[in-house]
Amino acid sequence: MAQVIMDKFTKNVFKEKSIIDPNKKVRAAVVGIGWIAEAQVDSYLRCEDVDLVALCEIVPGKAEAFMEALGIQDRGIKVYNSTKEMYEHEKLDVVSICTANASHCQLVVEALDAGANVLCEKPMCVTLDEAVTMCRAAKRNNKILSVGFQPRMTKYMQDIVNIVRSGELGEVYYIQSGGGRRHGIPTPFGTSLIESSKSGFGAMGDIGCYSLDMLLNAVGYPKPLTVSAYKSDFFGKDPNYYKGHPEYAEAFDVDDFAAAFIRLEGGIILDFRIAWAMHMDTTGDALILGKKGGLRIPSTPAWNGSFDGPLTIYHDVAGEQVQTVLPFEDEDIGELYYKKVRAFVSAVNYGTEVPSPAEQILYQMAILDGMTRSAELGKEVDIVIPEI
Ligand SMILES: NC(=O)c1ccc[n+]([C@@H]2O[C@H](COP(=O)([O-])OP(=O)(O)OC[C@H]3O[C@@H](n4cnc5c(N)ncnc54)[C@H](O)[C@@H]3O)[C@@H](O)[C@H]2O)c1
Repeated sequence: MAQVIMDKFTKNVFKEKSIIDPNKKVRAAVVGIGWIAEAQVDSYLRCEDVDLVALCEIVPGKAEAFMEALGIQDRGIKVYNSTKEMYEHEKLDVVSICTANASHCQLVVEALDAGANVLCEKPMCVTLDEAVTMCRAAKRNNKILSVGFQPRMTKYMQDIVNIVRSGELGEVYYIQSGGGRRHGIPTPFGTSLIESSKSGFGAMGDIGCYSLDMLLNAVGYPKPLTVSAYKSDFFGKDPNYYKGHPEYAEAFDVDDFAAAFIRLEGGIILDFRIAWAMHMDTTGDALILGKKGGLRIPSTPAWNGSFDGPLTIYHDVAGEQVQTVLPFEDEDIGELYYKKVRAFVSAVNYGTEVPSPAEQILYQMAILDGMTRSAELGKEVDIVIPEI
């Protein structure tokens, strides 16, 4: 079997645009000053055409302490403890929503209705109904709603898209997600990701949304039609799993493993699996199978939109089975958060392409919503997406 190593493929997907005009400022605010807020605040501060004017955090003193820790307390950034109060006092062009998943819908709609364009952290929300409500609010206000998927900013992800769109694989009929964690229920920051009242779902939505975005984006986000899903919580509910913190097992009421079989428009099958915990190192590599070729996307030990190792195309050349290995370049993951914010600001300020637009991520939410329903009913369910 022949193996070819390609030494050149795409150039870096994200290019700092020369269109950036430091005199054309947008006024920005960040809501929810927790873990991910640091990357967002830092990114806004790096954008020459952004005035970061406000932070909003319901826990009194938390935003002030955050600014002190970052050494930005003298930048004139105002702190609010309620979004209502913030919108009464500030006219904002862009707002980032960085709170727990279950609050995204309400806070995003409020920001859009206040006249802002919104960058919402992943996952978009918790249910299909919420996703529809959010898309309708964006449409009603004629504003941009982007969902924060920083892996989209990588050359790696762009290579995957380019390979599929180039026709190299022929017509795609099967896509399979991979990765997952052996021991990675996210409790280092408390219980906000393992309580459904805050997070909505477990591994399925928290890291499954990255797998879904990677594969669906590659094949052009076809409409989902049906889903049959399974989810379990064997590790999350086990007090022995959490060394020294058996109380987490009491709080845990989401999934730590999920698998699903999804039919997509155009005859494509999506075979999905994800885990926060399992007695296995990986659920496998992600695969894209087409009539002319197949693409292997190596899994990572702690899948969260990360990537590790070269992409390989399996195809026949002149009757021979050939593997083409694409060069693998490490990318600076920290920079992806900046690129995500930069791409969103450019879409608002200069009308460039909206990164991960809500109308697209709506389909992903329809799948996650269908998975939850199917797993609970124990049978296949239809996915019906209302008009926006
Ligand atoms: N893109 C990524 O790589 C990435 C990484 C981590 C988390 N996230 C996502 O970011 C979101 C937040 O995660 P986190 O880990 O930063 O959470 P976190 O719990 O650390 O922070 C959330 C903050 O929001 C505040 N808050 C809650 N309701 C509020 C309200 N109504 N108004 C103002 N503040 C409010 C909380 O007090 C808390 O300080 C989640 O949706 C998560 O999935 C994304």
